[in-house]
Amino acid sequence: MKTALVAPSILSANFTHLGDDIKRIQEAGADWLHFDVMDGHFVPNISFGLPVLQGIAKTHNMVNDVHIMIDNPREYAQRFVEAGADYLTFHYEACGSDSEVFEVIDLIHKYGAKAGLSIKPKTPIEKVFPFLNSLDLVLIMSVEPGFGGQSFIRDSLGKILRLRNYIDENEIKTLIEVDGGINEQTARECKQMGVDVFVAGSYVFNAEDVKAAIRSLKI
Ligand code: DX5
Ligand code: ZN
Repeated sequence: MKTALVAPSILSANFTHLGDDIKRIQEAGADWLHFDVMDGHFVPNISFGLPVLQGIAKTHNMVNDVHIMIDNPREYAQRFVEAGADYLTFHYEACGSDSEVFEVIDLIHKYGAKAGLSIKPKTPIEKVFPFLNSLDLVLIMSVEPGFGGQSFIRDSLGKILRLRNYIDENEIKTLIEVDGGINEQTARECKQMGVDVFVAGSYVFNAEDVKAAIRSLKI
């Protein structure tokens, strides 16, 4: 099993020094930069959007891992890719049908990014199976989307394992990313289930030693 990639979520960064914090995590060994977009409608919070992504996407060498927790992802896919998303991950629950999910995946690929599909904690993992041959990534939410600093939902472990088994049995290339309440302890449990990428916001940005925090997730 390969060493996991680490994607710090800038939702937990210090916004008076966002550029410094991005530099700090890159120098500390982060692989991806996780960019949490919230519209105050799909989730009960508003974060940041296109102008901020445009402003930071090319200021670092990490992969821009954009997680859009918004309604109507079909309307915005092109703009987020053009603003700098390398991976653009949208929510299954924000689409009205399986065909709309396929439409958004196709749009993301058409404009040149990799496509990810995210599911909330209460959505069964089997819902993503029909899309796996088209998806570059599945993002399993291990907290209710909308806020950083929440506790890891332990049912996520079973979802990760079921997805890992399905991907391996069908020789699919899709990456598994987990997001929410990730720290040294929960990362270890998730890695045993077969995670490829860890999102971590508060664990990284609140750490005394950011380098050590990121290193502790590269397992
Ligand atoms: C929550 C976001 C997560 C969050 C992770 O809706 O999608 O990426 O920022 O924050 P922590 O790691 O603090 O749970
Ligand atoms: Zn996220």
